[in-house]
Amino acid sequence: MRHLITWSDYQVADIRRILDVAADLKKLCLQGIRPPVLERRVIGLLFEKPSLRTRVSFESLAYQTGGASLFLGDDVGWGSREPARDFFPILTSYIDCLVIRAKRHQDVVNASHLSRCPVINGLTDLAHPCQALADLMTIEEIAGTLENVKIAYFGDANNVAFSLAQLACKLGVRFSIAAPRAYQFAAATCHQIRERSSQSDLFEQTEDPAVAADNANFLYTDVWTSMGQEVERERRMKDLAAYQVNERLFAFANDNARFLHCLPARRGEEVAQSVIDGERSATLQQAENRLHAQKGLVVWMLTELER
Ligand code: CP
Ligand code: NVA
Repeated sequence: MRHLITWSDYQVADIRRILDVAADLKKLCLQGIRPPVLERRVIGLLFEKPSLRTRVSFESLAYQTGGASLFLGDDVGWGSREPARDFFPILTSYIDCLVIRAKRHQDVVNASHLSRCPVINGLTDLAHPCQALADLMTIEEIAGTLENVKIAYFGDANNVAFSLAQLACKLGVRFSIAAPRAYQFAAATCHQIRERSSQSDLFEQTEDPAVAADNANFLYTDVWTSMGQEVERERRMKDLAAYQVNERLFAFANDNARFLHCLPARRGEEVAQSVIDGERSATLQQAENRLHAQKGLVVWMLTELER
């Protein structure tokens, strides 16, 4: 049984297989063919924070593949009604896969230790691995390859940045992040990303947006204030103002560079409206790919791996 908590312990061959299953199922889905590959499987969703893409894509992929989903609200009493050591073994004995969106990363790690079925991280303060999977799927669709591709990321080194950096560098994609010192990855995180990269020079961290954007194929950003950080919003707006993805930044990038954002976005803050609503934006394709990428992931986890 495998969980997906972060991409750290995943082998390239497994990720490659997930992406290939996802691409095959997407092709079929777009032709109106939805093989019942998860027939009678049940995916549970335990969310502590709001969600559009993650929740609906998982729920929908369950139905599309002949399974079912259960969105678990407050009344199940996670963290309030009984201890985790009772809650998780019982919950996971009813279902085949559990997606958790949690405030604290450690809560998902603990849940995975107590779980009887695969646990998927649906976003924590540390990581957002499902987003990164859809991002790499989108990049491969647009670029036609993952070779000689550079992603430039601007702004807070947050959960989205962390998973994207991990997965990109593992798959041989260059990842350059530009952020002010206080918003950069810690040295230990940089070390961890570099250690698991397919080549040593794929990861770069800088304060200069022009350095990150230089010759990049994809310019990526996320909100400056993540869920749960609302009290810091004013300070973050000031500190990160120079890292907005706009026309000026695109001038440093590759001529055919595209824009990516995990969404939801704040137009006029981390990204100029002309960029996110313009021709270079691939954000809708990226959001749609949450469905296909996660379908590949769950099918791989539940049908190709030994339980
Ligand atoms: N990008 C993403 O995870 O969106 P949601 O918060 O809507 O799930
Ligand atoms: N960094 C954002 C991502 C939302 C999908 C957050 O954690 O709120």
